[in-house]
Amino acid sequence: MKSLLLLQSLGFGATVVANLSPVQFKAPTPSHFAELVANDTIDFGCRPIARPTSDDNFSLHALLTESQITHFEREYALHPSISIFREKVKRQSTRTPIGTGNRFSSGTVPKGLGQQPAGTSIPSIMNVNEINSAIQAIARTYGASTLTLPYRTFNGATQTILYVGAGTDKTRYHLYLSAAMHARERGGPDNLLYWLSDLLAANKTGTSLTYGAKTYTIAQIRSVLSAGIVAFPLVNPDGVAHDQSTNSLWRKNRNTRSGTSGSSIGVDLNRNFDFLWNFKKHFSASASPASTSPSSETFYGTGPASEAETKNHVSVYDSFPKIRWFMDIHSAAADVLYSWGDDENQGTSSSMNFLNAAYDGRRGIVGDTAYKEYIPSADATNSRNVATKMAAGMRAVGGRSYTPMQSVGLYATSGASDDYAFSRYWALGKNKVYGATLEFGKASGNFYPTVTEFNQNILDTSAGFMEWALAAIAVGLE
Ligand SMILES: *[C@@H]1O[C@H](CO)[C@@H](O)[C@H](O)[C@H]1NC(C)=O
Ligand SMILES: *[C@@H]1O[C@H](CO)[C@@H](O)[C@H](O)[C@H]1NC(C)=O
Ligand SMILES: *[C@@H]1O[C@H](CO)[C@@H](O)[C@H](O)[C@H]1NC(C)=O
Ligand SMILES: [Zn+2]
Repeated sequence: MKSLLLLQSLGFGATVVANLSPVQFKAPTPSHFAELVANDTIDFGCRPIARPTSDDNFSLHALLTESQITHFEREYALHPSISIFREKVKRQSTRTPIGTGNRFSSGTVPKGLGQQPAGTSIPSIMNVNEINSAIQAIARTYGASTLTLPYRTFNGATQTILYVGAGTDKTRYHLYLSAAMHARERGGPDNLLYWLSDLLAANKTGTSLTYGAKTYTIAQIRSVLSAGIVAFPLVNPDGVAHDQSTNSLWRKNRNTRSGTSGSSIGVDLNRNFDFLWNFKKHFSASASPASTSPSSETFYGTGPASEAETKNHVSVYDSFPKIRWFMDIHSAAADVLYSWGDDENQGTSSSMNFLNAAYDGRRGIVGDTAYKEYIPSADATNSRNVATKMAAGMRAVGGRSYTPMQSVGLYATSGASDDYAFSRYWALGKNKVYGATLEFGKASGNFYPTVTEFNQNILDTSAGFMEWALAAIAVGLE
């Protein structure tokens, strides 16, 4: 066999942020990673994803401290089939800066890339004040509406959403997008706000929008607007404010109820939704879809929807009861994920479902037959087709490749926003919502993009949202 440990040298310009280094584990099969993925002290980004490599192995991305790297170097010296590689990281100075001041405070509306000459570059990422001002500026400039959500965050922030395209009747809104649930995934709010602003500006002047090699006609733009778009650009304002001021790759919110220092602060909002939240009960003991440990990046909170941000996110469905399609905007894995995320899909046994207590203790193991999550075949087709069209549209922009895949991938999650959205129909008898998660950005898992990457992300996602909305409209909004 080859050498057991292949720790590559970082070379010139390497800088580590927050004392975490991006690494890849490599092994011949995904099941080699089973123990790793069960270890909730490891940061795998949004969810652990094992990808096939060109040499018939699989790679698993993670962010580790130096002492964790040392630990796994020693550990895998005894397991020749798993290797650990460092990934190249960017110089800190090449990261897109966070805006200083407020570009939108005077009511200046953010201008997306769809109406600007090719090669135009937006130089900085919106800070929290800029996001809030941008929401107000878009509403005022184009006569769109805002809604303040009922709960204040742990640090006292109010949360405002924007709804555009279908007037003031909230039952005419069918598309819901949210961003920045994970604080460090920079650029999510920017992607959403620049796209909305582009749609409204194009509608006003009757022009088309161009993103790289993709152009959308005014008829397509008006069709998307009239589907009614609800946008929640900043789901985790406390976490984003902290991440932007510390560059610490902060993911969770800032609730100190379960821990008051360091990594024990905060709840992973994307494990806090009321979908199989109590994973210790609902999942197999050998699945690790979330964590009960406050210091884990996937800490599930103190109860289903215990967090104000989660409650606010859920309240949007109640305010806009006809939402049919939901998209949660994350980074960075270059894929589009569709339901379900708790186990593999199956369309034959409707009683084998997330509500059935008879299957408690069996969920969440990919590749077994003890449990697979029920999805009616038409729903499976609809979710997969829309994600596939979205990924294809993003590829066609000209930047990079995006892969559509089922959320569960190789490892399960509990309490995620996309599964919660889709579960409401069965759990609560509410309108059916197809939930999906976009992981924009390069597959390398770089949360802090360079200016070039940040602008490519805006182009990719603007086209991606257009494709998603057009495909959703084609499937149906009611
Ligand atoms: C990847 O697979 C090849 C065989 O295709 C093997 O020789 C090699 O050692 C594997 N690399 C790693 C890092 O596991
Ligand atoms: C989990 O990983 C840590 C390093 O992050 C290691 O110290 C610990 O022993 C691992 N736990 C298990 C159960 O393997
Ligand atoms: C789109 O433009 C038309 C024509 O100018 C206008 O009447 C309509 O209000 C605009 N729609 C939105 C959502 O701004
Ligand atoms: Zn995420």
